[in-house]
Amino acid sequence: MSIQVLALVGSLRNASVNRQLADAAAAAAPEGTEVTIYEGLAEVPFYNEDLDVEGSVPAAAEALREAAKAADAVLLVTPEYNGTTPAVLNNAIDWLSRPYGAGAIKDLPAAVVSASPSPYGAQWANGDARKALGVAGAKVLEDASVAVGGRFELFAETHPKDHAETAAELAGVLSALAGAVEPVAV
Ligand code: FNR
Repeated sequence: MSIQVLALVGSLRNASVNRQLADAAAAAAPEGTEVTIYEGLAEVPFYNEDLDVEGSVPAAAEALREAAKAADAVLLVTPEYNGTTPAVLNNAIDWLSRPYGAGAIKDLPAAVVSASPSPYGAQWANGDARKALGVAGAKVLEDASVAVGGRFELFAETHPKDHAETAAELAGVLSALAGAVEPVAV
């Protein structure tokens, strides 16, 4: 039974470097660990308690919750918008955090990879994402999170999965996530 990691990418643009990093994370996953990049974040409406009613939750939000429930761990791959995590990811965390104390992300091992053209690698967004994940109930692997700074130009020529240092960093993140997954009692 392979370990299923759900990857949520905070950029929706076609040429997203963070999306490339998520693809590279999938390629770097250790044997027995599978990364699935979630494709429906753009369709998830903004969180609204009036919509979050059993039986009539918006389909796109429900699908996100089901994907998280089916996962063993979650990986956020995020840029930084105005010094913090982009709304698309914060919105996903909001839907995954409810009902309070019993959200789909509760107790899921979670790690964050961030990237930015700046040398800091979107470290503020990385930290804010880890904080939000923790408050939402995930088991955040603080030490496994990675901020990839100053490699954007490089990634224009070389896909992150083919950049040895980046691939090794991502393999480390995925191994830590896999290691944090509680074995299922048989
Ligand atoms: C940015 N960008 C940015 N970068 C950064 O390091 N710190 C920041 O606060 C911001 N703020 C910001 C706001 C908005 C609305 C946009 C669109 C962009 C630049 C950002 O890092 C750059 O666009 C990356 O390419 C975004 O990642 P993807 O889309 O390549 O994955």
